Amino acid sequence: MVFSDADAAALYDLLNPWDPDTRPDDGFYFPLVMGAESVLDVGCGTGAMLRLARERGHRGRLVGLDPDAAALDRARRRADIEWVLGTAAESESGVGFRLATMTGHAFQSLLTDHDVRASLGAIHGALRPGGRFVFETRHPQARAWEGWTHTNPDDVVDVVDETGRALRYWHDVESVDGDVVTITGTVAQPDGTVLRVLREGLRFLDIAALNGILAEAGFEVEAQFGDWNREPVTGASREIITIARRG
Ligand SMILES: C[S@@+](CC[C@H](N)C(=O)[O-])C[C@H]1O[C@@H](n2cnc3c(N)ncnc32)[C@H](O)[C@@H]1O
Repeated sequence: MVFSDADAAALYDLLNPWDPDTRPDDGFYFPLVMGAESVLDVGCGTGAMLRLARERGHRGRLVGLDPDAAALDRARRRADIEWVLGTAAESESGVGFRLATMTGHAFQSLLTDHDVRASLGAIHGALRPGGRFVFETRHPQARAWEGWTHTNPDDVVDVVDETGRALRYWHDVESVDGDVVTITGTVAQPDGTVLRVLREGLRFLDIAALNGILAEAGFEVEAQFGDWNREPVTGASREIITIARRG
């Protein structure tokens, strides 16, 4: 049985339904999007956030940017939004967006200082002065990757996909190299027959390094939270959620 890139994008939507009414992270972002005249969603994936914004009446400019062609193909099912194939570092400058977002921990896909700098520089250039860049990254202190293993029953999920196939999905950590954790996502049949192994690197920047690099790129940190209820970042926080303003 073939498990294509399109199947992987469909599985992503199944495992991560975007719902601001029930999911606190989506509920954090959605009012910011609905309240901004123009929005650039960097690392938009299948575009669920912008698609719902349009469906719920957003009338301004909405642009989704992502380097994953199969994810973007799913996004393109909604044609009244601009979908652009590309990386954060390729964000178009001079557009004057009011808001840029990176949701679903997409920021952690930026694996090197060089890539973070290039991406922040491009996002800065895409915003108008005073525009905001809002994103989250998992706080390294919570060591989230330790739960990403097939031995953690909470991390093994059984689903039935759009075509009626029963699938099992789980994560494993392949390596931890400094602050970059490489993980695999295994797609299998319920009997364990492996269909596809998806691999990605995730960077866990600490808050001091993050704020340093934001300042260097010309962003002021307007607010920073440790969870989706807008509590401050503490020694127990699992997230670093940042609202940064282009100076
Ligand atoms: C976990 S998904 C999040 C998707 C979506 N934002 C969400 O909240 O569901 C991470 C996304 O980041 C994208 N990505 C990876 N590297 C990127 C880069 N350099 N610039 C922009 N997006 C990137 C991936 O293609 C993927 O769609």
